[in-house]
Amino acid sequence: MKPVKIAPSILAGDLGNLRGAVETAMKGGADLIHVDVLDGHFAPNISFGAGTVRALRAGSTAPFDVHLMIERPGYAVRDYLDAGADRVIFQAETIDEPSFDALFAVVRSYDRQLGLALKPETDLPGWAEAKLGQMSTVLVLTVNPGFSGQRMDVKQFPKIERIAKIIADRHLETDLEIDGGIDERNINEVARRGGDTFVAGAGVYAQQDPVRAMANLRENATKARGSA
Ligand code: DX5
Ligand code: ZN
Repeated sequence: MKPVKIAPSILAGDLGNLRGAVETAMKGGADLIHVDVLDGHFAPNISFGAGTVRALRAGSTAPFDVHLMIERPGYAVRDYLDAGADRVIFQAETIDEPSFDALFAVVRSYDRQLGLALKPETDLPGWAEAKLGQMSTVLVLTVNPGFSGQRMDVKQFPKIERIAKIIADRHLETDLEIDGGIDERNINEVARRGGDTFVAGAGVYAQQDPVRAMANLRENATKARGSA
């Protein structure tokens, strides 16, 4: 059984003190720092440019998981890799198979990792299923992208189970990352359906004790995976 990974989403942190948000995540033992890049076109809201990623990456011992919710990722990917992104995640709605191949070549040339994200209404495309072995993560959005603090969409559970089965049947190392509306109370629901990597924004930063919340998220997810 793959160990649980916790990825606090700094979009839900104090935007006036992002370095503090990264430090809090590290204090809580974050496996990844999740950075939601929004361009205001692919989804509402505009968030972090590559300069912000560069400034924050320098102060972090945890790898940066950069979720590109942007319309033309091919134009921006090198900027984020140059800024120190350890893993870049593309939205499936913004690429096709040839552009995936081109992006994969770019990411490999930097010796970094790549992932594919799916909006709630998007299923894993056939071409992507065949290329799962090239991806270090598949991210299932359990909210519509744009803002933290929304409710988890339980209609995504069958999709999570389906992708978990493909990954397990093929003995792949690919993470199954769940993103949106996760908190201490519902993380078990997505963990027992096969999620192993959990993004949490409000589930960490809107809690009274974010470090404690991260420990609880990890404990609850680990228990649920063990009993699945
Ligand atoms: C959705 C983002 C999420 C979100 C997570 O646009 O991809 O990472 O900010 O925040 P919570 O956990 O608060 O839903
Ligand atoms: Zn995200």
